[in-house]
Amino acid sequence: MKLFLDTANLEEIRTAAEWGIITGVTTNPSLIAREEGDFQEIVREITTLVPGPVSAEVISLTGEEMVEEAKNLAKMASNVVVKIPMTHEGMKAVSVLAPEGIKTNVTLMFSLNQALMAAQAGASYISPFIGRLDDIGHSGVQLVKEIVEVYNYYGYETEIIAASIRHPLHVMEVAQAGADIATIPFKVLSQMFQHPLTEKGIKMFLDDWQKSGR
Ligand code: E4P
Repeated sequence: MKLFLDTANLEEIRTAAEWGIITGVTTNPSLIAREEGDFQEIVREITTLVPGPVSAEVISLTGEEMVEEAKNLAKMASNVVVKIPMTHEGMKAVSVLAPEGIKTNVTLMFSLNQALMAAQAGASYISPFIGRLDDIGHSGVQLVKEIVEVYNYYGYETEIIAASIRHPLHVMEVAQAGADIATIPFKVLSQMFQHPLTEKGIKMFLDDWQKSGR
């Protein structure tokens, strides 16, 4: 399973890129709104910081407008993926963009039927929102398992990005469920490093080394 960073914060992306463990980035209008600066410049900068896909979301509501917006976003860099909401108009846009070779990430995905429709429309990626499903008493991880099973059964090539990840356990669970990618907030990615035995082990090794007098 590949790891993406779910943020529009350039400092966080630079730091995580240096760790060598993230290959892509996902943004959304709320994440961009938290940052200072021009939307296009932020996205362009992100595309230079990671080698893989960078999702940038449309804000239009009609299929036609989404297609136009998507084409402009796709021109910004070869690794831009256009994030499109899971609506009737969104599917119209995806089905126009797919044959033109413009990659899409269908977002705000909360059911297996939505995942089926997005794959049929030709989505390159889908983003089931794990945490937001958990928030309303449904299992986000269970949804990922169901989508993985059905996509594998029918041989769909659409990749599954587990999104709305809230804690390290989510990452382990979606990995076990067979998600292709998990997109992770910086705080959660940092938490994934932590283990008391690693810290204790480093201290023990350094103490022993010093005691040996070398
Ligand atoms: C995914 O692509 C979204 O940007 C993100 O994961 C949403 O997460 P949230 O539910 O924490 O806002």
